[in-house]
Amino acid sequence: MRNDMEEVLFTGEQISQRVKEVAQSIAEDYKGSTPLLVGVLKGAVIFLADLVRHIDIPIELDFIATSSYGASTQSSGVVRILKDLDVPLQGRDVVIVEDVVDSGLTLTYLRDTLLRRGAKSIRIATAFDKPEGRKVPIKPDYCGFTVPNKFLVGYGLDFAERYRHLPYVGVLKRSVYEVE
Ligand code: IMP
Ligand code: MG
Repeated sequence: MRNDMEEVLFTGEQISQRVKEVAQSIAEDYKGSTPLLVGVLKGAVIFLADLVRHIDIPIELDFIATSSYGASTQSSGVVRILKDLDVPLQGRDVVIVEDVVDSGLTLTYLRDTLLRRGAKSIRIATAFDKPEGRKVPIKPDYCGFTVPNKFLVGYGLDFAERYRHLPYVGVLKRSVYEVE
């Protein structure tokens, strides 16, 4: 699989070290509360699973799924909820957990929607942040790594549903896109 990669940006070891630090900040900030961590399916599953195992305060988990880019590498700008939360948000401290913030459209929509449902507070935790890709201004509260404006795969990030399971994150070779 490494043959498909142009460049590895962060190894599994680097990611796991950084994820622990992010988990510790979340645990410190939410002492005395039981935050609801909302994983955005499917990309955030890997990050969420690693993250929560280093959070040493009580938390709850839920999941939401939004429409994705499909097999394209460009955002359509259309956000739709495909799978909704199971629990009510009234009075909850919510942390939305994402794989990557790019245009910011998904998170802006989710944050506004969850706030409208009565969440007491909402913060955003993302494994990767691509600030150069922003179309709407939104800043994650917790971020693993700031990354360049390139299409990445691995550690939850997919290209046409593949590569999510890679323990590292990197840039795909152009030749991989062209044959797909
Ligand atoms: P946004 O709405 O443009 O911020 O995009 C968020 C979603 O787009 C993420 O949850 C990913 O599913 C997808 N995405 C954005 N950039 C990448 C990338 O580099 N690789 C794979 N998926 C990406
Ligand atoms: Mg995706």
